[in-house]
Amino acid sequence: MKAATPIDRLKEHVGQTVTLEGWVYNSRPSGKLAFITLRDGTGLCQCVLEKKPETDGFFDAVARLGQESSLILTGLVAEEPRSVGGYELRVSGAEVVHPASDYPITPKPHGIEFLMKQRHLWFRSKRQWHVLRIRATVVDAIRRFLNDNGYVLIDTPIFAPAAGEGAQTLFEVDYFGEPVYLAQTGQLYVEAACMAHGKVYCFGPTFRAEKSKTRRHLTEFWMVEPEIAYASLDDVIDVAEDFTCAIVERVLNDHRDELIELGRDVAELEAIKKPFYRLTYTEAADILHGPRAKELLEKDLVEKSVRIEALSKEIEECEAVAKQEGVKQWKKDKAAADAIAKREERADLEEQVKNIPHHMELAAHFKWGSDLGGSDETIISRLHDRPVFVTHYPRGVKAFYMREDRKDPRLSENFDLLAPQGFGEIIGGSAREEDYDRLVNRIKEENLPQADYEWYLDLRRYGTVPHGGFGLGVERTLCWLCGLKHIREAIPFPRMMGKFYP
Ligand code: 4AD
Repeated sequence: MKAATPIDRLKEHVGQTVTLEGWVYNSRPSGKLAFITLRDGTGLCQCVLEKKPETDGFFDAVARLGQESSLILTGLVAEEPRSVGGYELRVSGAEVVHPASDYPITPKPHGIEFLMKQRHLWFRSKRQWHVLRIRATVVDAIRRFLNDNGYVLIDTPIFAPAAGEGAQTLFEVDYFGEPVYLAQTGQLYVEAACMAHGKVYCFGPTFRAEKSKTRRHLTEFWMVEPEIAYASLDDVIDVAEDFTCAIVERVLNDHRDELIELGRDVAELEAIKKPFYRLTYTEAADILHGPRAKELLEKDLVEKSVRIEALSKEIEECEAVAKQEGVKQWKKDKAAADAIAKREERADLEEQVKNIPHHMELAAHFKWGSDLGGSDETIISRLHDRPVFVTHYPRGVKAFYMREDRKDPRLSENFDLLAPQGFGEIIGGSAREEDYDRLVNRIKEENLPQADYEWYLDLRRYGTVPHGGFGLGVERTLCWLCGLKHIREAIPFPRMMGKFYP
């Protein structure tokens, strides 16, 4: 059997006869001609089928195929600048593998609830296809950076005997009659490994029982966690900065066209260069209390309200067209679909506008000592055009393992990295408490069962050294890079509170 040619390699085959294996993305029969857009996983290609003696045997069957039918086509490759991808196939042979009918996701817009239930099919759509390919590149960029810079991959367990982050987000599992937890982090284990290998990382799925539905939280997400022995907070921050730049550079290099198709402002990503901004938590709190935060939200309120009004008018117009007699059916369908999309945008904006006064309130009355909330992070992140490291949070709001600031024991030596333009936190990291007594005190303060952490305390008993690391969330990073409004599009099969199908 002749091997099929991937659509993204057609440029090497102009003037040759090749075979494409794929699915019908779109089909437009037009008398004696049929234009089929074929999708094969590497790209799209317009395939032109002409009714003539040599195609007579299959013309009718192929021209009438429904969306997502599987199909093998053979034909001559020709350059065609007007065609998607720049090439077209002049079809001379065809084999229908499976004729599909009534594919539920048509090219017109659908509501998000519907699409989420069709996730297994939805990711054949162009937008989702781009996002998941960029995700694969992000994962590869992560591994390359770490492997090329001397980090050893250490796979950490998913069944964990104790909390690594807050106890309130633990998923408990019955482990032969004993409770264990799905890993919230691999960090404690990579800390052990860095004492053996110096520089290490783990990379895998991570679980948090997040009991709220937000656009930034999944219950199952992927996190990469580098850990470095003999490292200070500043050393770790420097690595996080280089790491982030390397990921952005790779995605820009490999996916510029896709990013543009996703509507991402590529110039904003090109501006991601060292040095990133560095603020202390206390400075961030001052920003929240100050005039810039207030002005930003007041402006938002006005702009979003104006947009809601405009959308309401547009929705009315679309609905009128959809009902109007004498209008062509395709025009009615389009108007109805536009109305759905606009209604969704309006609902989204209405929700945001409803929250703005609350967010203003939270920012203006932000209390030193509390954690930065999602809306606080958004404000800080929107006021910057490059990522921002926020460092030295109060110890009380951060995990027990973070190093106490020796100059100011109220603070921990930690950081969050906030992506710019409102995308918020993508990395959390810290120097780790290397001092045995201080660490035991923190375990006690947090009311954690010390017995569960004896192995971890061994790391401070036998050759303890200053060390630190961080965790980068793949889905949060992807939201930022692709400009996604909601994290559910950043993972193939999202898991959120109340959502685990398909
Ligand atoms: O700040 P976090 O909780 O840090 C840790 O887990 C540390 N143990 C990391 C370390 O120092 N080794 O989480 C790190 C990152 C966040 O910045 C965010 O990108 C992502 O993990 N993250 C989530 N992503 C999606 N959904 C959630 N519920 C997430 N929680 C954290």
